[in-house]
Amino acid sequence: MSLKAPIFAGRRPWFFVTLTLSCFTILAVTFSLWELVEHHYFRDLNYLTLHYMYITRGVTSSILVGIWATWFVLRERRRREEQLEESCAHYRTILDHVPEAVVLCDAGFRVAEWNEAAERLYGVPRQQMVGQVLTTVPLERWSELEEAAARAAEDQRILDKETERRTGDGGRIPVAVSYSSIPPSDSRPRLLVELAQDIRPRLRDRERLLEVEKLALMGQIAAGTAHHLNTPLTAVLLQVELLRQQPAPDGGNMTELAAIEQRVRFCQAFVQNLLRFARRPQMRRKPLALCDAIEAAATLFRPSLALKMASLHIDLHEILPCRILGDPNYLEVAFSVLISNAVDAIPREGRVYIHCSLKADHQAEVYVDDSGPGIANELLPRVFEPFFTTKPAGQGTGLGLSIARNLVQEHGGVLQLQNRERGGLRAIVSLPLLEGPAARESRREEVFG
Ligand SMILES: Nc1ncnc2c1ncn2[C@@H]1O[C@H](COP(=O)(O)OP(=O)(O)OP(=O)(O)O)[C@@H](O)[C@H]1O
Ligand SMILES: [Mg+2]
Repeated sequence: MSLKAPIFAGRRPWFFVTLTLSCFTILAVTFSLWELVEHHYFRDLNYLTLHYMYITRGVTSSILVGIWATWFVLRERRRREEQLEESCAHYRTILDHVPEAVVLCDAGFRVAEWNEAAERLYGVPRQQMVGQVLTTVPLERWSELEEAAARAAEDQRILDKETERRTGDGGRIPVAVSYSSIPPSDSRPRLLVELAQDIRPRLRDRERLLEVEKLALMGQIAAGTAHHLNTPLTAVLLQVELLRQQPAPDGGNMTELAAIEQRVRFCQAFVQNLLRFARRPQMRRKPLALCDAIEAAATLFRPSLALKMASLHIDLHEILPCRILGDPNYLEVAFSVLISNAVDAIPREGRVYIHCSLKADHQAEVYVDDSGPGIANELLPRVFEPFFTTKPAGQGTGLGLSIARNLVQEHGGVLQLQNRERGGLRAIVSLPLLEGPAARESRREEVFG
């Protein structure tokens, strides 16, 4: 079905008036000229010849009028066609610039128009759809569409209704649709207008919001629980310490005591992580040298590295003069999480390498590389989820990375993880720097372990 109106549709009296008048003028001029010529040159001809001349005059003027009328009508037709083409092109341009997928269809849901956004959304070209029954509506959604069409026909507008549509490749996408109806005219039937918008980003935001709400609630519960557990755990640790100092007469079992202590310490670390996770950090920001925070964090891991006979290589030359507005304690916690993960991941005699680079717009990137196994690609998107851990029960809380990410974000930065081509994992911390260098003298390259 086409939306083009017939070329001579509508009443246009001026057209017929002009045509009639011009035909009369042609007749009048031809007759007068003929009369003049005849009067001047053929006045003495006999009756029969004059009779033939009259007939010739009639035929000639009819032919002239016919030619003129045909030319006039054809010219008008061409002009109209051009106008129509132009207005169609104009209308198509407007339709193609609508950001939503616009589909126009008749009462039998045959597509009359299909704009570029619809081509992009459904992945079906216009030529394929125009004239076809809508194929984008899943079977179970037809009743919805019919109801919407009926309501739209009664001039009720349906706005932003969330539903599903099928794409050309057989997939399904969530969309928000709005309906309205274009009343019928002499040349075309009533048309249903469907505007559809991809709502995948909207749904993602909604999910994220729900997640945030859930986390906030979980945080509150966690903070309460952690607070209550912290005191008895500290008391248990003290008791363990006391028991160790007063050996039992029968010798007691020191190994069991050590095991109890280890588990209680894990519970305490878990509780402290929970508290860190639940509380929004109260930052005390000040300008500080970024290398200091990284080095302070790295120093904490000397003993664990020594135990694994592993090496830690730090090269912070590039950011040596750089300062950042941050809280030294929280920055240290964030880097500790990353280094601790790296230390946990590396094998015996493994290697951790901390280095950095300066980026445009006063940004620094700090890399914590390790020679561990890296993270399976399917797990990468999950590692920032609170409580996600691949460590055996009792060894990892799964809160480290989510705490580190929160802290980096609080400093206006971004934390990313990626597997290195040569094996192992790279944690990338991008942080905004303060302008102007800090005066520093110490050497920022060292190897220990
Ligand atoms: N450097 C790394 N190499 C390999 N896997 C890693 C690395 N860093 C993190 N991961 C993976 O990400 C998971 C989540 O890390 P996260 O720090 O949040 O928790 P965790 O280390 O398991 O527990 P915790 O931090 O309490 O010790 C880890 O269990 C591990 O599977
Ligand atoms: Mg960790």
